[in-house]
Amino acid sequence: MVARRQRAPTALRLLDCEILVEPGLLGSIGAVAERVAPAHRYVIVTDDTVAGHYGTRVVDSFTGAQPLMLRIPPGESHKTRLTWASLTDEMLDAGCGRDTTVIALGGGVVGDLAGFVAATFMRGIPFVQVPTTLLAMIDASIGGKTGVDAPAGKNLVGAFHQPSAVVADPHALATLPLEHRRAGAAEAIKHGVITDAAYFDRVAAALPALLHDPAGDAMHELIIGSVTIKAGIVLGDERERGMRKILNFGHTLGHAIETASDYRLLHGEAIAIGMVLEASLAEMIGVATAGIAERVRDVVARTGLPVAPPPTLSPERLLALTRTDKKARAGSAEYALPLTIGTMAGADTQWSVRVRDDDVLAVLRAASR
Ligand SMILES: NC(=O)c1ccc[n+]([C@@H]2O[C@H](COP(=O)([O-])OP(=O)(O)OC[C@H]3O[C@@H](n4cnc5c(N)ncnc54)[C@H](O)[C@@H]3O)[C@@H](O)[C@H]2O)c1
Ligand SMILES: [Zn+2]
Repeated sequence: MVARRQRAPTALRLLDCEILVEPGLLGSIGAVAERVAPAHRYVIVTDDTVAGHYGTRVVDSFTGAQPLMLRIPPGESHKTRLTWASLTDEMLDAGCGRDTTVIALGGGVVGDLAGFVAATFMRGIPFVQVPTTLLAMIDASIGGKTGVDAPAGKNLVGAFHQPSAVVADPHALATLPLEHRRAGAAEAIKHGVITDAAYFDRVAAALPALLHDPAGDAMHELIIGSVTIKAGIVLGDERERGMRKILNFGHTLGHAIETASDYRLLHGEAIAIGMVLEASLAEMIGVATAGIAERVRDVVARTGLPVAPPPTLSPERLLALTRTDKKARAGSAEYALPLTIGTMAGADTQWSVRVRDDDVLAVLRAASR
C-alpha cells in the first residue's frame, strides 16, 4: 500500500446492489436511498453509540418526510430474535407498510439485524446498508447474509436479502475505537489468505500503521480491495452452495470461540484466533503447505489481535460448539482450509474439508498449552 497513488474506483456493483465507498458519504445517505430504494417511509435502524455520532447527520440528509429512527443498545448480545421482534413491532406501531425502506446505520450487528428485519417485514422490503465499522464496510455489509444469533450459536436464524446499496464513508472510522479497527482488519487478512497472496502481503505490510490513520489512503485502498474480493466471491455463488464457503475460513472455530466467550471477544478477535487455529489444522492434516500457519499467526499478532483462545475455554467445549454451527453436517464439522496463502482447498468437494474430531482437539489442546 503506497502513500500516494491514484484513487481506486469507488463505485462497484454486486447483482442489483450498488456499492459506494467515499469519504463524506454520510451526508448523502438520504439522496442515495431516495434514488436506489424510493419509499413512502424510511426507517433508520441504528445503535445508541452510532446514533450519538452520526444519527443527526443521516436524518438531516433526507429531503422528504423525517425518517423514523429506531435505536438498539450496542453489542452482539442484542443481535437476537427479541430485538428483531421489538423493531418489527415498533415499525408496525408506526404504521409502516410495504412501501418502507430500512437504513441499517452501524456495524455488523446493526447490519445483520436490520437486514433481517427488512428481509422479513411484510415478507421483504428494501434496505440500504450504511456500515460504520471497518468490519462491516469490508465484509458484513456485502453479500446479503442477514440474521440473528440464538442461544445455541451465531447467525442460526436468518435469510439471504441483498441490500439495494451499500454506502461506506471511511471518515466514520475516525470515531471507531482501535480495538474495533483491529477486529475489522481480521477479515481483510482473511480475504488475502483465501484468494490473493499479493493482497495478503500488502495488508501485512500496511499493518499495523494503517489502523492509526483511518482516513488515509492505505485504509481507503484496503476497503476497496476487500470489498472487491468479497463481492467477487458472492457474485459467483450468492447462496453459498460452493465457492462462497471459502469466506468461512477461521469461522468454524472462530464462531465457537466467540459464542463460548459469551461475546466478550469481538467477532474479529475470535475470527483472528480461528484463522490461526484453522491454518494450523490445515498444516497438521497435510492440506496446507508448511509455514502457512506461522505466516497467518505473524500477521494476526502484528495487528495486535489474539492468536490463541482464552485458557478458560476448554477444547472439548469448543469442539462441541462447532457442531451447532451451520457448517456442521451429519455430526461432523466442515472447514474451509487454505492450501497456500491465496488458494483454498476443496475445489472438488464444494470448498469444504471434513475434519476428524481428534485432529481438531489436538490443535485446540496444543493452543491452550
Ligand atoms: N452478514 C455477514 O456476511 C457478516 C460478515 C461478517 C460479520 N458479520 C457479523 O458482524 C457482526 C460484527 O460486526 P462489528 O464488528 O461491526 O460489530 P458491532 O456492530 O457490534 O460494532 C462494534 C462497536 O462499534 C460501535 N460503532 C460502530 N460504528 C462506530 C463508529 N463509526 N464510531 C464509533 N463507534 C462505532 C458500535 O456501537 C459497537 O459498539 C457480528 O455479529 C458478525 O456475525 C456478518
Ligand atoms: Zn466474519
